[in-house]
Amino acid sequence: MTRTSAAPEAPASAGGAPQASGIAVVVEGVTKTYETRDGTVEAVRDVSFRVPPGHVASLVGPSGCGKSTVLKMIAGLVSYDRGAVEVGGAPAAAGRRDCGIMLQSAVLLPWRSVWDNVMLPIEVLGLDKEQGRERARALLELVGLSGFENKHPWELSGGMQQRASLARLLVFEPRILLMDEPFAALDEFTRERLDGELLRLQERFHRTLVYVTHNIAEAVTISDTVVVMTPRPGEVVDIVQVDLPRPRSLDVATTPAGLTFVNRIRSSLDA
Ligand SMILES: Nc1ncnc2c1ncn2[C@@H]1O[C@H](COP(=O)(O)OP(=O)(O)OP(=O)(O)O)[C@@H](O)[C@H]1O
Ligand SMILES: [Mg+2]
Repeated sequence: MTRTSAAPEAPASAGGAPQASGIAVVVEGVTKTYETRDGTVEAVRDVSFRVPPGHVASLVGPSGCGKSTVLKMIAGLVSYDRGAVEVGGAPAAAGRRDCGIMLQSAVLLPWRSVWDNVMLPIEVLGLDKEQGRERARALLELVGLSGFENKHPWELSGGMQQRASLARLLVFEPRILLMDEPFAALDEFTRERLDGELLRLQERFHRTLVYVTHNIAEAVTISDTVVVMTPRPGEVVDIVQVDLPRPRSLDVATTPAGLTFVNRIRSSLDA
């Protein structure tokens, strides 16, 4: 475990993951102020961290500290006042084929069925339809929505909508995944199952993932790096390299080694 106050170098490859070169996501000295009717709100201040290709970085911090803001900046959906955000060596921009985001609240199109929502990225990006259909079928099975293809979002529970959003994110196989508390609204049972699927997907395909969560144990379980943020304006107070070997089991955060990281992150949050 290493402690760094500035953006760290690429951590050592964990548990047999391929050594990747370069940096997939760079957030460097970023500050963001929102203009509101009641004046300005400084959301994040001087935030820096980097995510090497194939690594998982989680952002943790209290509500309102700017986690969603940072994720949206990486997706090119929110501007910033100072600093730089680079994805795959280019400035962050919306609509990239190699980068997909799953927002904090499921944003499904209400007039489209579950199936048509999941297939949307295939249509928009002009990808192979037959391959897309195969992936959509497999992903709907994975997230437990087989049989619900013809339902509309308003006929689903909040958790089911979130699961459909996850299938829509994964269907076009972006290299860089951005996920904003994707499983927070789900019951414990489903969340654990999807955490397990995410772990397995990650260990097999080595996607780059930036993940926002309130759940410290979840962050330790899935991450190579945990970026700990302070209350608003969000600043990076700690960057923890979680060098637990992979493949990991879902209860890795409750092992003595895992608990060391959980406690470290908790004390950084309380500092
Ligand atoms: N579009 C916006 N306009 C004005 N202020 C905003 C906007 N989006 C976010 N903010 C403010 O910026 C701060 C950070 O918000 P953000 O949603 O990034 O926090 P968060 O860490 O994701 O919180 P949570 O854990 O509750 O989701 C908050 O004070 C919020 O009120
Ligand atoms: Mg948020």
